[in-house]
Amino acid sequence: MIDDLTIEIREETNADHARVRDIELAAFEGFLQADLVDTLRESAVPYLSLVALVPSEIVGHVFFSPAFIECQAEPPAAQLSPIAIAPGHQGKGIGSKLIQTGLQECASIGWKAIFLLGDPAYYSRFGFVMASSMGLEYENPRFAPDLQVVELEPGILDGCRGTVRFHPAYAEAEDL
Ligand SMILES: CC(C)(COP(=O)(O)OP(=O)(O)OC[C@H]1O[C@@H](n2cnc3c(N)ncnc32)[C@H](O)[C@@H]1OP(=O)(O)O)[C@@H](O)C(=O)NCCC(=O)NCCS
Repeated sequence: MIDDLTIEIREETNADHARVRDIELAAFEGFLQADLVDTLRESAVPYLSLVALVPSEIVGHVFFSPAFIECQAEPPAAQLSPIAIAPGHQGKGIGSKLIQTGLQECASIGWKAIFLLGDPAYYSRFGFVMASSMGLEYENPRFAPDLQVVELEPGILDGCRGTVRFHPAYAEAEDL
């Protein structure tokens, strides 16, 4: 575990794009996540792309883009994906700091709830709960059991039930 203070989190700049792509390629099998990031930078509005540096080398990346809930009073929401830590730097608390800082930044952007598809064993520590328990279902039934959500404004999803959609690039990627 690295001392929390030695992990710097900041917004990505254009100069970081190549390094971010290398991290996505190294952390995941295949090109899917790296290509998604390139697509979303062009078409997701707004988006939040953060990098983690230890101490001056970028070793982690997280991306947030808008999510849409089909309910009457649809609150502004986002989804966290992808998140990637360079293989030699995993398990040292960098992913945790990226997520915690990312959620604070998302709140300041005005997003009220954050969704993701992932392992609850990891994401529950950041406050994520199963979205199905709140009556929210991911549009793709194949991945619906993995949908989790955290409210950045407590109670914002009360009475909001329905289908959750991400940027169309995700639906296209999931059909591959
Ligand atoms: C998943 C990932 C982002 C976590 O970041 P990290 O910096 O390695 O994790 P942290 O150091 O913050 O946290 C470590 C803890 O997370 C757990 N963890 C890491 N990856 C996990 C996973 N995929 N599922 C469940 N738990 C996981 C570790 O077991 C450890 O648990 P502990 O604190 O109880 O010992 C990173 O390992 C990674 O990039 N993995 C490859 C890409 C990936 O799977 N991305 C997520 C897709 S949903």
